Amino acid sequence: MTNPSLLILPGDGIGPEVMAEVRKIIDWYGDKRGLVFDVSEGLVGGCSYDAHGTPLTDETMEKAQSVDAVLLGAVGGPKYDDLDFSVKPERGLLRLRKEMDLYANLRPAQCFDALADFSSLKKDVVAGLDIMIVRELTSGIYFGEPRGIFEEGNERVGINTQRYTESEIERVARSAFELARKRNNKVCSMEKANVMESGILWRAVVSEVHEKEYPDVELSHMYADAGAMQLCRWPKQFDVIVTDNLFGDLLSDAAAMLTGSLGMLPSASLGAPMANGRPKALYEPVHGSAPDIAGQGKANPIACILSFAMALRYSFDMGAEADRLEAAVEKVLADGVRTADLLGEEGVTPVSTSEMGDAIVAALDSSL
Ligand code: NAD
Ligand code: IPM
Ligand code: MN
Repeated sequence: MTNPSLLILPGDGIGPEVMAEVRKIIDWYGDKRGLVFDVSEGLVGGCSYDAHGTPLTDETMEKAQSVDAVLLGAVGGPKYDDLDFSVKPERGLLRLRKEMDLYANLRPAQCFDALADFSSLKKDVVAGLDIMIVRELTSGIYFGEPRGIFEEGNERVGINTQRYTESEIERVARSAFELARKRNNKVCSMEKANVMESGILWRAVVSEVHEKEYPDVELSHMYADAGAMQLCRWPKQFDVIVTDNLFGDLLSDAAAMLTGSLGMLPSASLGAPMANGRPKALYEPVHGSAPDIAGQGKANPIACILSFAMALRYSFDMGAEADRLEAAVEKVLADGVRTADLLGEEGVTPVSTSEMGDAIVAALDSSL
């Protein structure tokens, strides 16, 4: 049997720093569990632009299409702010999502007990929180046409288009209902059906899929603005939230703060099953390249490490090993190990990115 294949794209800013810690975890699984991955590395984002004049080469795109899973750090940074829109670092990531057709973006927000005091919300609001945001990732206003900046009369007009087809809504709704069945059996769908036609269609199609295929799952609907409010007021009312590309982007950053830090939130972007029955998949932290702390060894690698745990679970059927890695992260946090973004308690000295990775490897060792 051949080893499972992984393409690693560290990207820009803190991307390579947090990915170096994931490499330690991957090596640990090879050495200690006999789970050897066939790992290759490539460029995406600003570093690819610097090397090749494009944020993603066709060769890297083809490689991404051929592996079992892609693991990405982060892209972007102020150095690239003035680049033409077509070659901005973020275009590389969006091309990967679109061409791999990764329509279901799973963004779990879990509050580890050790961090419940640290959230900017009250402890009882977040303690024990475990919700899953399913963000549609390959359509909506991110990709709709027409788009662009045009001259109109004597001024410029910027245009983006929110567009959803019935089948695009159906497939992401199915992903959300399937996940709910394995969790607490509840889905809340968020849109703005009060002001957007695409929202009216979204609500209707989610309801139809529910009625025909998932009547056993509890479904509710919320306007996305009210949903944002409810996410801060009492997030534990939710189990799975399904929403569009742009609302999902905003709601998941907000959900990050329920867990304590943006440096904690992993994600899985899944597409249709490949020939081997596993979904096309890319795993990445929800956070970006964090230019304000890049190069200083301050970044929290947990979001990226937990993204690898999601890869173990969703691409490699290694749920027990994913549990092991998540438990190792939980143990390290319970032991009081903190990167700077998780500091709040008096008298705690932060560890570096690399020390956090080492602590998680040590916790993995102690799990054997
Ligand atoms: P960001 O997520 O990079 O940073 C927001 C804040 O969170 C910063 O203060 C940062 O220091 C902090 N932060 C983020 N991740 C952290 C971590 N792991 N540990 C500790 N602190 C962390 O968002 P931004 O500043 O709005 O964007 C910076 C660049 O990243 C932009 O170019 C943006 O387009 C890009 N971006 C990329 C992705 C991605 O690659 N998936 C996601 C979001 C933003
Ligand atoms: C995210 C990011 C991306 C998005 C950017 C970098 C393209 O914010 O993954 O959440 O807007 O989807
Ligand atoms: Mn985002």
